Amino acid sequence: MPMPPWSWAVGHIGLLYAYTRSLPAFANVNLVFPEIAASFADTEMFLIDLWPVAETMLIVFNPEAAMQVAQKMNLPKATFNHVITAPITGGPSMLSMNGSQWKTWRSLFNPGFSSAMMVEQTPQIVDSVSVFCKKLVKMTEKGVFSLDNLTTRLTFDIIMKVTLNADADHQSADHPLPYALDMITKWHSVWDVRLILNPLRPLIHAYYGNVIKTYIRKQIQDRFQEVKKEYSNPASLAISRAKSVMTLAIEGYLASQTKPTAQTLDEDFAKMASHQIRLFLFAGNDTTSSTIYIEIPEFGRSRKPFCQNAGLWVQNMRFTRLRGHIAPSNWGLGTALVKV
Ligand SMILES: *[C@@H]1O[C@H](CO)[C@@H](O)[C@H](O)[C@H]1NC(C)=O
Ligand SMILES: *[C@@H]1O[C@H](CO)[C@@H](O)[C@H](O)[C@H]1NC(C)=O
Ligand SMILES: *[C@@H]1O[C@H](CO)[C@@H](O)[C@H](O)[C@H]1NC(C)=O
Repeated sequence: MPMPPWSWAVGHIGLLYAYTRSLPAFANVNLVFPEIAASFADTEMFLIDLWPVAETMLIVFNPEAAMQVAQKMNLPKATFNHVITAPITGGPSMLSMNGSQWKTWRSLFNPGFSSAMMVEQTPQIVDSVSVFCKKLVKMTEKGVFSLDNLTTRLTFDIIMKVTLNADADHQSADHPLPYALDMITKWHSVWDVRLILNPLRPLIHAYYGNVIKTYIRKQIQDRFQEVKKEYSNPASLAISRAKSVMTLAIEGYLASQTKPTAQTLDEDFAKMASHQIRLFLFAGNDTTSSTIYIEIPEFGRSRKPFCQNAGLWVQNMRFTRLRGHIAPSNWGLGTALVKV
């Protein structure tokens, strides 16, 4: 099996470390794999031995082989997927589920991510972006500030709206959910023994896990009540706006039941559904927010208007890297926007 130079003592950990060092600080560790893959263009797969940190991985980037692994054969996920995500998601999620369980959940959530649904969601995404633009303009009047802080809040509001139809409005006032998620990730590690052995860790995970669970379960119950109302009286327009990802999943679930008129939402369904929502919140967080703040300076460079309705032209802004952090394309964590 093809693989990069391997050492008896540390497998490929040294190699991974060397590649990580060659990338900008704070770059996502996954960016290492395309770099390594460049040397395996002929085989389109290679082995990576990260024992004892993680299980040995076969990195596959041949489209046909990848399709076989993920879809045709639907091979079981690594145990590591479950270990690393369970405290964050609260239990099994689409990232760790196997076989038919994965397939069931995947098909329940597919309709919510169709391109037609995304188009329907656009007006409410624009609403969140308008709030973002107003905040941005207000901040530029104050001086240097963290763009990352604003894009993270925007991202959270949009994920909450699109997946749950919840008005979080984290852009205007701190929402308890992001804080709880942050506390869980801060106290979660698979290799830091100081964290793993800390007796406070299970308590903190249980406490903040419960904060998240209570909030999301209430939202799921509310969406279920709306679906029920609409079923019993189709003219009631209980669901007036674009249907959320969760609403569509509930409809799909009820349609698959022999008794689709259930009065209460099945406990198991609600529990598993909340894990998936937590996964969306976590997986969409940094990735989306950093993509947005890296893109904003590009509007200036290409002389395109940004937040034009709010009277903001990126051309008139200066971007600064704060705290010496450098991320890909040189726009760092905490990039600031300053009016000049
Ligand atoms: C999926 O299968 C793997 C390998 O058998 C197992 O370790 C993992 O726990 C399974 N995931 C779930 C959510 O049961
Ligand atoms: C982040 O943004 C919020 C809302 O706009 C603001 O209240 C808060 O002071 C900002 N925090 C930092 C550290 O800039
Ligand atoms: C979400 O992203 C922000 C910005 O990168 C980060 O500060 C925060 O810790 C992230 N939260 C989680 C739960 O990953």
